[in-house]
Amino acid sequence: MDPSAPKRVLLIVGGGIAAYKALELVRLFRRAGVGVRAVLTRAGAEFVTPLSLGALSEDRVFTELFSLTDEQEIGHIELSRQADLLVVAPASANLLAKAANGMADDLAATVLLATDKPVLMAPAMNVRMWLHPATVRNVDSLAGDGVRFVGPDEGAMACGEFGPGRMAEPQAIFTAAMGLLASGPVAAPPVRPLKSRRVLVTAGPTFEPIDPVRGLSNRSSGKQGYAIAEALAELGAEVTLISGPVDLPTPTAVRRVKVVTASQMLEACRAALPVDAAVMAAAVSDWRPERVADRKLKKEAGAPEIRLGVADRKLKKEAGAPEIRLVRNPDILATLSQPGPERPQLVVGFAAETDHLEEHARDKLVRKGCNWIVANDVTRPGVLGGEENVVTLLTHEGEEAWPRATKVEVARRLAERIAAALAEGSEAGDAR
Ligand code: CTP
Repeated sequence: MDPSAPKRVLLIVGGGIAAYKALELVRLFRRAGVGVRAVLTRAGAEFVTPLSLGALSEDRVFTELFSLTDEQEIGHIELSRQADLLVVAPASANLLAKAANGMADDLAATVLLATDKPVLMAPAMNVRMWLHPATVRNVDSLAGDGVRFVGPDEGAMACGEFGPGRMAEPQAIFTAAMGLLASGPVAAPPVRPLKSRRVLVTAGPTFEPIDPVRGLSNRSSGKQGYAIAEALAELGAEVTLISGPVDLPTPTAVRRVKVVTASQMLEACRAALPVDAAVMAAAVSDWRPERVADRKLKKEAGAPEIRLGVADRKLKKEAGAPEIRLVRNPDILATLSQPGPERPQLVVGFAAETDHLEEHARDKLVRKGCNWIVANDVTRPGVLGGEENVVTLLTHEGEEAWPRATKVEVARRLAERIAAALAEGSEAGDAR
C-alpha cells in the first residue's frame, strides 16, 4: 500500500441518540482529506438521514444488505476492501453483540464479518447495558479479535442516568482513527497473555476531608495509573481500577470503583480480592484529620496549624489559631503485601520521589513488603500531571532505568512485565 495515498474510512453508523455526532465525525475526516463512505443501519436511520450523511461525506450512503442495485455496483466485501479503516460510531449494544458473535443479518454486521481491515468502535449505550456482563463479554471477545475501542465516556446520558456509556466525542474518535490510519495496516490481533487473570490497580490522589468544603489532597493526575489499568485490560486481564477523585474517563473494558479517602480505598481494595496482581499507583495521603468537622470551619474560630512533626512544633502559633490534628492513614500497599492466602502473587508499588530516588525506593520495597517498586523522580519537567514519565523498576533482584517515555508506553511495558512475571509464577515463592 502506498503510505502517501489518501486514506479512506468506512463509517458504520449504528442506532442511538449519539448518531447525530457521526455527522461531526464525517466533517472532521473530510477536513483532514480522508475519504468517508457511510453505512447506516436501520436503527441508525431513525436518528440521522442518509441524505445528511451523504451530503457531508460527498458519497452515497449504503443502507440495505439486499439492495439489488447496491450489490450490483459494489458488494459488501468490496465496501470493506476499499477502506483503510472501519469506524463504528455509535456502536450500539446490539451491533457489538452481532459483531462479537459473527452475525451477518444486515449490511453493517456483514461488512464487519467480511472485513480484513482494522476496526475502531465507539460504543454508546445506556450505562446498565454497557456494564451488563453480556456486553462486557462481547467487548472482551471483540478486543481479543483485534478490534480497537474509543470511549465510552462517563457523564449524564440522554436517558437521564449517569455513568459510562456516552459515546466519545467526535474529536476523540477522529484522533484514535487517525492514529490507526497512520500506523498503517494493522497486524494480527494482539496477544492476550493476561486472559483470565484478575488485577487490581489504584490510581489518583485521595482526598481527606477537614470539613464539608475543605480537605487534604495532592496533585496526582491519575494518568499513569489509568494508563496501567488500560494496558493490563488490553492484555486480557480483568481489571478493577480503584480511583481517587480525578477527571479521567473509565478506560475501556475496565471496572472502575470511585473512592475519596484512603480508608475507602483500602476497603475497596479488600473487596476486589482475590487478584493475581495488584498495582498501587495511587498517591495516598499518609495522614487524615483526626476529626472531620460537620460544619464549615469559620476563621473567627482560628486558623489551622497542621502538626506534622517535631520541627513544625517549633513554629510560633498565631494567636487564636485552631489546630487540625492528623492521624495516620492505613498503608494500603503494605496491607496488601502482608503474607497470607489473599496476598496477590505480585504486588507492585510506586515511589514518587524528589531526591535520593533509588535509596528511598529500595527502602520502600523492603519496608512495605511488595515485589516491585516503580520509582519516578517527580522533579523532572513534564512528569507531575504531564504525559511523560521517567521511571526505574526496582525488584529484589536488581533495578532497571527505563528511558523517558509517554505514560501510555510506560504502562504497556509494565503490563508486559507483569504478564511475564505471572506466567513465570516465580514471584509467588519469593513474596509470600
Ligand atoms: N501507599 C499506600 N497507602 C498509603 C501510602 C502509600 O498504598 N497510605 C502506596 C502508594 O500507592 C505507592 C507507595 O505506597 O505505591 C509509595 O507511596 P509514598 O507515599 O511515596 O510512600 P510513603 O510510604 O508515604 O513514604 P514517604 O512518605 O516516606 O515518601
